[in-house]
Amino acid sequence: MCGIVGYLGYRQAAEVCMEGLLRLEYRGYDSFGIATVSPEITLFKETGKISAAKDSIHLNGTCGIGHTRWATHGVPSKTNAHPFTDCTGKLAVVHNGIIENYAQLKRELEERGHTFVSETDTEVIPHLIEEQYAGNLCEAVAKILPLLEGAYAILVITEDTQEIVAARKGSPLVLGIGDNEYIFASDGLPILDYTRRVIYLEDGDLADVTPAGYTIYHGAEVVERKTAVLEWDAADIRKGGFAHYMLKEMYEQPEVFSNTASSIAENPSLLCRLRDARSITIVACGTSANAATVFAYLMETVCGIPTRVVLASEFKYYPTPKNDVVIAVSQSGETADTIAALKIAKEKGAKTFCLTNVLGSSLTRTAETTFYTRAGPEVSVAATKSFTAQVAAFMEMVNIISGGKLTEDIAEIQRYLPEVLEYDVDAAVELVKDAATLLYVGRGLSYPIALEGALKMKEISYIHAEGYAAGELKHGPFALLSESTPVVAVCLSGITYPVMMSNLKEMKARCAPEIVLGNAGDLDAEEIADVFIPLPKVSEIAGSILASVVLQMLAYKTAVSLGTDVDMPRNLAKSVTVE
Ligand code: G6P
Repeated sequence: MCGIVGYLGYRQAAEVCMEGLLRLEYRGYDSFGIATVSPEITLFKETGKISAAKDSIHLNGTCGIGHTRWATHGVPSKTNAHPFTDCTGKLAVVHNGIIENYAQLKRELEERGHTFVSETDTEVIPHLIEEQYAGNLCEAVAKILPLLEGAYAILVITEDTQEIVAARKGSPLVLGIGDNEYIFASDGLPILDYTRRVIYLEDGDLADVTPAGYTIYHGAEVVERKTAVLEWDAADIRKGGFAHYMLKEMYEQPEVFSNTASSIAENPSLLCRLRDARSITIVACGTSANAATVFAYLMETVCGIPTRVVLASEFKYYPTPKNDVVIAVSQSGETADTIAALKIAKEKGAKTFCLTNVLGSSLTRTAETTFYTRAGPEVSVAATKSFTAQVAAFMEMVNIISGGKLTEDIAEIQRYLPEVLEYDVDAAVELVKDAATLLYVGRGLSYPIALEGALKMKEISYIHAEGYAAGELKHGPFALLSESTPVVAVCLSGITYPVMMSNLKEMKARCAPEIVLGNAGDLDAEEIADVFIPLPKVSEIAGSILASVVLQMLAYKTAVSLGTDVDMPRNLAKSVTVE
């Protein structure tokens, strides 16, 4: 979703902002803009990709702000792109989040003579500041913040000073502190090229940055915020010879799985609290919710602890059991629904944990305790390695809590991950790429794997794909089956096998072409399949997780063959910071 960058120092601010926005591209956007102080406020706005407009940006000045916009209020257009100015054009503002009471504020401002050019909620902010501004930008911003309802991370500049004023409430904002230069950004990635020293601003913070230094206010108080060190490497956010970030990130999975699994034991007291839990609720969205479903299955079947997954956006409508442990799972740590759900859980007295991939993210400040996945930065909108890292973390938690019952499964996954990444899925791609609808099916642990496989396919290939528990097909989806509705089935030796085989036969009887991910040497499954993908002969648990990687590759190769924008699929955002 929207990304913001601000620079104050000795370099050309527009260049730093543009490079920074390119680093935030992965979040998803449909237009972008930059403003610099040179000495008056100069703006550049455009729709579409930054790379296409790169050579047309000629803004001077060493103080500037930039923004990538993912449309919420108003269509993607130059007019609706940030930054926005006030009536005088002396102030410019970029904003990430949603101002919920903007309509009322806009009406009042119009009554007082302000004119608006866009349909956005953001545009009220520069006009409100304009009314308060009498030479001290920081004071003026502080005065208008109480009027804003909703979430925001904002950066404000004025032509009168070399200064950036920043405020945060509910949307992420990081301040990078270099040598005689400062960079604000929505996350650490744009900052890495300049410095590793950062401050994660807290909700309610107001930061005033000038060439003389920075001051952070919280209410009327000046506060000291701890500096943190960005752990990621600038090399991690380059494609490194791969055609897409998604492919690169998929190939990182063997390392990510092992790194994450081996880090879980570092937190024994936390694991004890999970082991002693009467019940566990997990809140998450998208791919993280699918990884959470893997955890719920393992926790219930291996450890016998009642565990449920509630989609974060639905959590507020559910009761929280007394003494429940609530775990929020989120790659970014910035998903608004997940943060909101964890806050509710905390208010209701639950013990709150989070599992995230991003150090210092908002979720880590809400949860009482944090586990980190060790996936490194994930740039592709479609989550791959972060899913595998979440699964690794969860499997290791279950393994430790159960006294080592998953040790073999974990070892098998580690052993075969590099191999399954090399599988040839071309025949499967041929079978699905022209279909209008695909059904993904599995049972037991393969059910969340089917959900995740279908999610990957629809996200990046735009083919309608749905994941089902195989037993549910007869309760409706069977009506869709025909020779033009391919089915992708995970059918592995183990407790689910006999019924899965029956299901494959039933679907075959309805003429559905079948892609079957089974165990190598399973002649029955191979015979029924139109395309058979042989997985190693491993446990059903290990096989299901290995199947998820093959399904990622199937989605990836299908998307490539269809020519979609694999890393930045249409309409999607990596980090969904609005509810
Ligand atoms: C967005 C992303 C998905 C992701 C979901 C949850 O929709 O496009 O890939 O699974 O958000 O994100 P989180 O960062 O909370 O895991």
